[in-house]
Amino acid sequence: MSAKKIVIAIDGFSSSGKSTMARQLARRIGYVYVDSGAMYRAVTLHALRGGIVNPVSGVDRPRLIADLPSLAIGFALQPDGSQHTTLNGEDVEKEIRTMEVSSWVSPVAEIPEVRHRLVALQQEYGRDKGIVMDGRDIGTTVFPHAEMKVFVNASPEVRAERRYKELQEKGTPVSYEEVLANVRERDHIDSTRAESPLRQAEDAFVLDNDRLTREQQLDTLLKLFASRSGADAATDK
Ligand code: CDP
Repeated sequence: MSAKKIVIAIDGFSSSGKSTMARQLARRIGYVYVDSGAMYRAVTLHALRGGIVNPVSGVDRPRLIADLPSLAIGFALQPDGSQHTTLNGEDVEKEIRTMEVSSWVSPVAEIPEVRHRLVALQQEYGRDKGIVMDGRDIGTTVFPHAEMKVFVNASPEVRAERRYKELQEKGTPVSYEEVLANVRERDHIDSTRAESPLRQAEDAFVLDNDRLTREQQLDTLLKLFASRSGADAATDK
């Protein structure tokens, strides 16, 4: 088989199901998966813990920027093959998924210094290719030359419903309306910020996730992967 290792960039709005999709694809083709959103969430968690954000004045940018060099963000491989996000060596996977982090992450992610630091780290992960990364700006800013780019589309209501169910399963007390409001607000901030806003790369393949089952999605991605990498065996079941 003459498959070459490639870089796969998956972008889309919040809760569009892109992480699940990216993780499944990576597992299937034996690539590394990197959740770039988790890295922005880890920085946000640090800011919350240190009182660097507050509901009245928002994010204290100078303080957060000063702390950036001391933040080590990474991923720890688990025995079941999944990855947990780490912040200075601590497993923060659970904590970064709370509503509190979700409600602060977009204001943190619009700070250029935060983005520069995380984008550099993300590019480092992709140096040897063989990687699937999902986020907002992966196909436009992090890996503009990625061999395969996917942009995931889904309506805010479908996305909020999905996230609401996830939170319910975790026992988080939250209403559907709150989740929908958070999804809409993050969509707005993510797509209007000055620094690498969320937008579809011109050469991205658009996947409409409202109408596809998980299996159909994975199948579509595997076919695309086969054509972009020359891995003919990729669609074998
Ligand atoms: O999983 P969910 O769709 O809720 O979002 P996420 O991928 O965990 O990302 C959380 C937030 O991080 C987004 O709403 C963006 O504000 C920010 N983010 C970003 O700015 N750039 C990325 N490449 C990834 C995430």
